Amino acid sequence: MLKIGDITMKNPVVLAPMAGVCNSAFRLTVKEFGAGLVCAEMVSDKGIVFQNEKTMDMLYIDEREKPLSLQIFGGEKETLVQAAKYVDRNSNADIIDINMGCPVPKITKCDAGAKWLLDPNKIYEMVSAVVDAVEKPVTVKMRIGWDEDHIYAVKNAQAVERAGGKAVAVHGRTRVQMYEGTANWDIIREVKQSVNIPVIGNGDVQTPQDAKRMLDETGVDGVMIGRAALGNPWMIYRTVNYLETGELMDEPPVREKIDVCILHLDRLIALKNEDIAVREMRKHAAWYLKGIRGNARVRNAINECNTRDELAALLNNLVVEIESKQEIHSQVG
Ligand SMILES: Cc1cc2nc3c(=O)[nH]c(=O)nc-3n(C[C@H](O)[C@H](O)[C@H](O)COP(=O)(O)O)c2cc1C
Repeated sequence: MLKIGDITMKNPVVLAPMAGVCNSAFRLTVKEFGAGLVCAEMVSDKGIVFQNEKTMDMLYIDEREKPLSLQIFGGEKETLVQAAKYVDRNSNADIIDINMGCPVPKITKCDAGAKWLLDPNKIYEMVSAVVDAVEKPVTVKMRIGWDEDHIYAVKNAQAVERAGGKAVAVHGRTRVQMYEGTANWDIIREVKQSVNIPVIGNGDVQTPQDAKRMLDETGVDGVMIGRAALGNPWMIYRTVNYLETGELMDEPPVREKIDVCILHLDRLIALKNEDIAVREMRKHAAWYLKGIRGNARVRNAINECNTRDELAALLNNLVVEIESKQEIHSQVG
């Protein structure tokens, strides 16, 4: 059972925080597909402190998404604490997560993200300052280390625990690896064995069977899914179902994929405006179409779409085309 502070999740399947992806529109959709916990995209502490308009919009959380974990990042204690206090008092988030995994130079050069992985004392200092300032449970998401020669995952997770952190999510890669190579689940197991707070394992869970294997092999309390859920909330649903029943559900039919894609689009339009939403939706639509035959031509056309109706018509036409081919096949067969 995954329990963070006094919040109990209905299952151990967690949607990973993903910048540019995990806004309320996507999170709500994934939540409806059964996720035990959804994580929001990372939010800049300074953006919160200076009340930047776009940053403030990122703090919107629909009641139906809960329980939700909201991640902040920053390099300085003062602004990180101020931002955490703001989220604690003024947002609908249930959990405040601190990013210690972001590998992007724009983030690490400000001494934020994965940079702290080199210094367990700094982790202790930052996490305890945030814990002392807020009521909501504080968690940390980290990579296993900076590079192969500096894998301090165990010490770092212990620092989080000592500082009063209520859980730690571990992505089994180093900062230097970025998204290359494979995630090291052995280190995730070592972390699980060396702390008493819940550990959420992350990295390379591509199928429901992978999720079960991660839980079995590492003993973690929760399993976090990132890229496999892009354009694919069914991954969450199928994983929850597989863990509960041992049965592997089929992939959804094309009609269902496109219907959910258009629902996601409409939610994004409600959240942002049509112009921004349609542009943002292009990458999502390409993800939803992954594995569907004939998608390359449609993917190019998607990038030319500027309105909701254009995009929806394109996607609906694809379904009609595929279904009529299936019809012919079944008649011939
Ligand atoms: C597009 C994208 C955006 C991401 N943004 C964040 C983020 O904002 N915060 C974070 O902690 N990790 C972020 N990550 C890392 C993921 O949360 C996760 O740790 C990583 O993708 C490994 O898990 P996976 O193999 O299931 O994808 C991001 C990953 C991707 C692909």
